[in-house]
Amino acid sequence: MTSPHAFWLAGRQATGEDAFDVTSPWDGRLVASVSIPTDAQVEEAVAAAYAAEAEFAATPAHVRAAALDHVSKRLVERTEEIAQLISAENGKPIKWARGEVGRAVSVFRFAAEEARRFNGGEAQRLDTDAGGVGRLALTRRFPRGTVLGIAPFNFPLNLCAHKVAPAIAVGAPIILKPAPATPLSGLILGELLAETDLPAGSWSVLPVANDKMPALVQDERLPVISFTGSETVGYAIMDSVPRKHCTLELGGNGAAVVLADWASDEDLDWAATRIATFSNYQAGQSCISVQRVIADASVYERLVPKIVAAVEAQVTGDPNDAATDVGPLVSEDAAKRVESWVDEAVRAGASLLTGGKREGASYAPTVLADVPADATISCEEVFGPVLTVRRVDGEAEAFAAVNDSKYGLQAGVFTHDLQTAFCAHRELEVGGVVVGDVPSYRADQMPYGGVKQSGVGREGVRYAMDDYTYERVMVLTGLAL
Ligand code: SIN
Repeated sequence: MTSPHAFWLAGRQATGEDAFDVTSPWDGRLVASVSIPTDAQVEEAVAAAYAAEAEFAATPAHVRAAALDHVSKRLVERTEEIAQLISAENGKPIKWARGEVGRAVSVFRFAAEEARRFNGGEAQRLDTDAGGVGRLALTRRFPRGTVLGIAPFNFPLNLCAHKVAPAIAVGAPIILKPAPATPLSGLILGELLAETDLPAGSWSVLPVANDKMPALVQDERLPVISFTGSETVGYAIMDSVPRKHCTLELGGNGAAVVLADWASDEDLDWAATRIATFSNYQAGQSCISVQRVIADASVYERLVPKIVAAVEAQVTGDPNDAATDVGPLVSEDAAKRVESWVDEAVRAGASLLTGGKREGASYAPTVLADVPADATISCEEVFGPVLTVRRVDGEAEAFAAVNDSKYGLQAGVFTHDLQTAFCAHRELEVGGVVVGDVPSYRADQMPYGGVKQSGVGREGVRYAMDDYTYERVMVLTGLAL
């Protein structure tokens, strides 16, 4: 029997007393057994991070940038191996796993670039009032303290990267807790960080069991929490520590709006292909996957059959196969939940246009029409390969339908009209509007996050750096300005 996979405690490898198994959602095979840190080891990591705060904040920008560049370069060199690992632990089709590694490469590169230009400071003359004559305010940003990064299973590498890279860029220690189903990609990041000169205490990757997290969340030495995951858990964390600085990236039920001017065959083919691809990528397990299609009545009848055909053309099956578009969900339980929501909608009168079948952890790409507004699938985040289609009359009704949701992460609007694009940007209650495409577009350097129940704060390298730091002003006196 092989020994369990080690974790990373204050920059060095360690093992605890217990371990848990990581299995493939596709075929149930054992991918790895992973060691769990003991309470004493968790305490050691937190104490080391706390002790490293001053040293890390004072580390020159070029040292932090070089470490980030190193991780980026090593991710390139190990792309195929890491993509295989993501696919094995998460069930993500290999082509999407390769894409995820490519994004993490960029996240670390962007963070290196931002580390070099961050904190330049701002000067403000204060003699605009008589009391400020001879005075100048200098503003710089300083880390709030150690970050507790809690990552989800759906992008097991890149959403860890979005926690870790900005922390290093600003010189804030980080304790990263990967998702229990997919800890291996986060642990690989540890391997790459261990090759750098960063202060040992400045980072740890700890696969802490979920039931041990409340104590860590409460720890006053961890003033910043960056969480990506479910709405329920995210708000429970924030409510339990109202005085901490929390960033929550939570759910969504992404809408794609197709307006009357998006009407040529070419337009509708493009919209249908994009909608089918991005309601099903990673088996729909993305917070910005397309869940709701809201189409103007003038294009609805032509669009829907194209969507159904494009959904049926998605290749399902073995995530290791380069041709596979849609693999399993993260677990059989997750697929059963999706199945129960679809069945509930159909019982309530929805029409099943395609899909609706489960096999183990896999759920067939599914399209539903005429779904009652109060069905669970209309109201909640499905996080599975299911989309609903709805007919509306005109732009105003379409935008009202987008906003008729407790979530507000991103929306896509298929229109050629610039005024309509600006109107969507103004009126949609979301963190991001994508014009001419689905909501599922995320560039890792742009601000990313939601409003309403979709969360608080923004990621995107530079925006997370702002989040992990605060502005401190220094007033210089007696100056001849
Ligand atoms: C998420 O599911 O919130 C992340 C989406 C992405 O990074 O593309």
